[in-house]
Order: sequence, then C-alpha cells, then structure tokens
Amino acid sequence: MIRRELRAAVRAAALILSVAVPITAHCGVIPLPAEIVAEVGSFNVGAATVVHVPRGDADADQAARYLVELWTRTNGLTLPVTVSPANPGAASTDSISFERHSGFGPEAYEINVAPHGVTVSAASAAGLFYGAVTLWQLLPPGGAAGQIPAQTIRDMPTYAWRGLMLDSARHFQSPAFIRSMIDWMALHKLNVLHWHLTDDQGWRLEIRKYPRLTSVGAWRVDPGGARYGGFYTQGEVRDLVRFAASRHVQIVPEIEMPGHATAAIAAYPSMGAAGDGALRVSASWGVHTHLFNLEPGTFEFLENVLGEVLELFPSRYIHVGGDEAVKDEWNASPTVQARARRLGIHGADAMQAYFTQKIAKFLSAHGRRAVGWDEIMQPGLPSDAVVMAWRGASGAHAAAIKGNDTVLAPDPALYFDHRQSKLAAEPPGRLIIISLEDVYRFEPGDPALSDLQRRHILGLQAELWTEYMTTGQRVEWMALPRAAALAEVGWSSRRSWPDFLRRLVSMSARYRALNLDYADSVFGIDAHFARAAGGVSVTLGNLSELKDAGLDPSIHYTLDGREPSATSALYEAPLTVPVGTEIRAATFLGPQQASRTWSSRPDAHAGVRRSSHELELCGNGVGLLLEPSTGAAPDAPLAVDIMNPCWIYRDVELGSAGRVTAAVAALPFNYVGLDAAKIRVGDNRTPVGELEVHVDGCDTASLGVLPLAPAAGKDGITELPALKLPPLSGRHDVCLRFARPRLDPLWALDWVEIENQ
Ligand code: ACM
Repeated sequence: MIRRELRAAVRAAALILSVAVPITAHCGVIPLPAEIVAEVGSFNVGAATVVHVPRGDADADQAARYLVELWTRTNGLTLPVTVSPANPGAASTDSISFERHSGFGPEAYEINVAPHGVTVSAASAAGLFYGAVTLWQLLPPGGAAGQIPAQTIRDMPTYAWRGLMLDSARHFQSPAFIRSMIDWMALHKLNVLHWHLTDDQGWRLEIRKYPRLTSVGAWRVDPGGARYGGFYTQGEVRDLVRFAASRHVQIVPEIEMPGHATAAIAAYPSMGAAGDGALRVSASWGVHTHLFNLEPGTFEFLENVLGEVLELFPSRYIHVGGDEAVKDEWNASPTVQARARRLGIHGADAMQAYFTQKIAKFLSAHGRRAVGWDEIMQPGLPSDAVVMAWRGASGAHAAAIKGNDTVLAPDPALYFDHRQSKLAAEPPGRLIIISLEDVYRFEPGDPALSDLQRRHILGLQAELWTEYMTTGQRVEWMALPRAAALAEVGWSSRRSWPDFLRRLVSMSARYRALNLDYADSVFGIDAHFARAAGGVSVTLGNLSELKDAGLDPSIHYTLDGREPSATSALYEAPLTVPVGTEIRAATFLGPQQASRTWSSRPDAHAGVRRSSHELELCGNGVGLLLEPSTGAAPDAPLAVDIMNPCWIYRDVELGSAGRVTAAVAALPFNYVGLDAAKIRVGDNRTPVGELEVHVDGCDTASLGVLPLAPAAGKDGITELPALKLPPLSGRHDVCLRFARPRLDPLWALDWVEIENQ
C-alpha cells in the first residue's frame, strides 16, 4: 500500500475508534492497533489449542513459534505448531491459523478472533510477526488458559522508522543485553536499533584492517584509575544482526565523524586534525574538540572502516554522526587550512559539508544511504541523506521542507537519559524530568507541512545515551515503559493517554513476567515521612497523574509484612506508625495491581533526614543525578547542579539549639566543554574545604561550616561531624553549599538532617 492510501486508511480507522472500545476487547495491546471491531463471544485459549501455519511458509512458522514462545514465557502456556490441514473444514475449532494474503501494507496484518478460531493474516513476514505480537497481548497475562474476546483487528503503522538509539560507547553493554533489548523492542513493534558504536570515550566495533581501533580505542582509564572498556567482535555483531532480523529489527550502525572521534584518533593519531600523538581515549563527558583531518589518507581509512561496516550490517541506512563537531582544531591547524585551500573550501561549516558529502557519496555508491545528526543540513547535502533531528523537532521539519528524509529524535522530549519522575527509585541520569506522559504526548507531525513534505518524515526515535547508565539493567529501566509510549506515538493513528495507562497495567505485568527491569514511575508509590507523636507519619501518594487522566486508582497497604492486595487496608490519609514498622503498599486500578510493591521500615531518621533530591537546587545549570563509583551506594542518587553545587531546605523550624548533620560524596569532575570558569571555587577556609550553612539566602554570612575531612568521600558516602547552630527561632530556608579549592572533586550532598533541640 502506498503511503497516501495508508494514511487514508489510518484516518478511517481513527473514525471507527472514536467509538470507545471496551478495555477488555484489546486487553493491553501496546501500541494500540489502528482498528478494533468488537464482536460477540470469545475464543478459549488453553492446552487444547493448536497453532496452524501454511505448509512451507517459514515466515508464518517463525511468527507462530514466536507467539507460542511468548505465551510460554508470560503465561506458562505451550502450544503445538503444526502445518494447516489441507482441508480447512478439518481444522479443529480450537485453532489459531497464520495465513498469507495479499493486499496488506509492508507491516500490516489482520487478526480475526471468533469463538470457533483465530486467524492472523498478512502479506509480509513482518505483518505475520506483528500479528503474533498483538495476539500474544490479547490473552491476559498470567494464566495458562484464558478467553480472548471476539474481535477483528486491522492494523498498520503510521511511521516506518520506530527506533531506539543505544550508546555503547560511554558504557559498554554485553551482547546478551543487546539481544534482550532487541527482543523487548520487538514486543513494542519498534523496528530500528540505532547502535552508537564509536565516540570520544570508546570505539566498540572490531575492524579487522585497523586492530588498534579496539586494542587501543576500546579502553579508557576512568577517574578512579580503573581500566574500562570492551568491544564487539565481528562474530558477535553478525549474530546480533541475524537475531535482529528474526525480530524484524534493523540495526543501523553509527560511526561518528568528523567529531566525537577521540577514541579513533587515540588509536591512529595521524587521522586527527591536531596531530596529537599523546591523545588518550577520553574518560570525561561533554563535547570534545578532537576532529578527523581532511587528508586523503583519512578518507581512505574511513572508507575502509565503512567497507567492513557494510559487510556486517545489511541495513540500507548507515549513520555517520556529524553532531557537535567543534571546529577549533580545524581552524587552528595549518595543515587542515592548507588542505581546505587546495580543495577551494572556505569556512569550517563548508569543510564539514565537504566531509559529509564525500562519505554520503561513498555510501550511495555502495547502495546505502547516509544518516546524520541534524548538523549535516548544509548546502550540498545529497538528496538521499537522512537528517536525524536532535536539536528540536524543527530540524526534521526543515529537512522535510528541503526534500530530505528525516527522523525525529529531539532532545529533551525523546532523550531517555533524563529521569522519568521525582521518585527516589530513579537511577542516575539527567535531572530534568521527561515523564512517560511527556513522551506519550510528543507530536511528530507539523501541521504546516504539506502532504508531500510530511512523507519525508520516516518516523521517530528515542536516545539512550549512557554516560550515567553504567549497566544494561539501567538502560532497560530508562527505556521502559517510555519505549511503550514511543511505540504508540510511532505506530498508532489514534492516541488516548488514559486508555494507554489502562493498557500499561497489563503490559507491566508482562514486563514482570519477562523479568524486565522497567521503571514504575507512573504507578509507583511516592512516600513521605514526618516525625509525629507516637512515631512517624507516613504519606503515600503519586495518584494525581492517574486521577487527572480520569482513572480511579487506590493504594492498599499492610503493616504486618504481608503482600498488599486489593482487599488490604485502603490508604485514605497519612498513617502514624511506630518507628521500625514495616509498611508495604501498592497502587491498584480496580482489582489489578498496577505498581510493584513498595516497602519501607522508617527508622529514627525518618521525617528528619532529607535526601538531596528532596531539596531544592539553588540554580538550574546542569542538573544531574549522580552516584559515587566506589564504596557503599547511597539510598538514592545524589541530585546536584554541577555548575552550582548548592541546595535549599525550605521552611525549617529552628530553635535555640539547632544541629546540622550531613553526608556527602566526592565525585569526579570529569566534564569538558562546560563553562567551568563560571563555577565558584577557591573560597575554602581549610585546604580540603567545607560545607557552608546559611539561612534565608545563600549569600548571607554563613552560620557555620561542616569541615570536609581529607579522606572524606574517597569511598562512597561520608557522614560529616555535626555543626551546632547559634540560637535562632522561627521558620527559615536553610542553604547548604560547598566551599572548595578546585573543581575536582565535585562535592555533592547526599542528605542533611536539621534538628531543633
Ligand atoms: C547529540 O546529542 N549530540 C546527538
């Protein structure tokens, strides 16, 4: 089906869907199918069900086996897959049949559920596969038998490119993790894994012709002195590419150029613009200045690298970076300038345009298309190059107007290195919140574009930059369930936030069954403690977003250590419990548990101790959630503005004998490209520095300091000796900030306690 017809069909489907479909009819299918028509009756799935595939149809067989595998994994139900009987009338009434029919778009499928049987029809392997994924989700998670309401689903995606970018350069993930990521992407009908394989902090792809790219470029020395790194062998890559194809995921590799090239230049210094033989693979975050030069030998090197990349990755698209190529080295290098003069190129931007064109033409000559970050939008960009817009959606719309295909991947809306909520469970990342709802409400289209221009929008993609995601498990947490929202934006023609939340309850149960470490931010319990007569007052919350969406959530809890259920005590108002009581609670939608179970045993510090992320930051420079790389982990990562490490504890009652205690960590200051000269240092009183305490402003004379011991912070979190405050009265805002001799280490507050007697 050509795209115009597809869109017309999608619009028609949207009209049909404006008749509300009862939730039981689609039972948690994400992304929401284009068209669902509810019918009468239901089909029983259970041990007697058989799955039929046409004789000799390997794609149908694969899709059917995937359906069975998924039901085994989430429902403990294992069904036989057999060749369809020659006489359709002979089919048992308990069968699910995969069928091949023409007349469907490239990823489209239809499912018909009737009381006597189910058919999944599609023209393509991808259509059959997506039919299997949807059918899997039609059975409620959990039981090995169940009913699927009778219905007809006709489905196709809005966008062809529904992607996630994984940064394997800043942190390295195992091939096993990447395999599992491809698998869970497929469960959301996400079909592009953009694999960021090279950057300043590591080169992760084995290139046989240039072994130093991995023997040198894959390894760095992290701030604590540990060697860190890893790379993917060509054998591992081939396995992953094969596995991805079986999940209908295309892997688009990214080889960064001309910037983000420190690791490559550290391995082969002659390729660099500065000719710096002492360059090392970077262990710092931020924008580096090291660029490839423009010599013929460097293009030969890059084309040889790409030659091996093309052998490994069958994708039509090859990403060649292009972002954040700070031109300082090009401007300063007489060799680069002389080369530009010989080529008749004037100006650094024109030099980058030359670079991009040369590489894009090389790829075109090999039957592939170059993809680049939106900085590649320069005069002369080949018309087949794809612009990946990261500096806002407007870059994509500008590319579409110019006639280049484009993918929307904008920061911050689709940058999944931002935290998802204010909950303490959030792992390290960027402090700005990009919530599930923010992702869900992302609008890829621009009404100002003509139909012709809109056809250049291939789709959308979210980025998993891994500076702060040290493990695959954390990548999973940051991706899920936001990837589910992304999938619905990319696939579905019609969106409804409340309906998505209801379906997410079933999806979350499937995540748990699949052992996926997803974020519970939207349903998770938010708890606050306060000191109270008789113990601790406990406030449980996080329901307002759900209530705003028109849902009717409730929190149920236990105080005896048992798992909460929908029949446990209903939380209605703050509870007062003795110190040491174990509280367990969860959010429910009707009888269904929506959140994981939260539990806590408040101790004597509860209600007095405030962690950094419960305080206000004094500024809004570069806010991060960080953790020490050694020693005991804090209960939650430390919230810090690295441009201004300073926190405000609002509205504290202070008395005649106040006392401040605090715990701190010394973190590496490994950031480049920041305006570090603007960061306050050098106002320390002692050689190591102090934590200053101020009231009613941060520039008032300090009431006293908590000295930082020389050894403090070397090993995780350190509690500082208490500070006695001078006599005060009334309520005040207390400001805490570090006075320190240098940027490194970056002192950060873990928690503070302010006591009044
Ligand atoms: C990017 O975030 N530099 C693409």
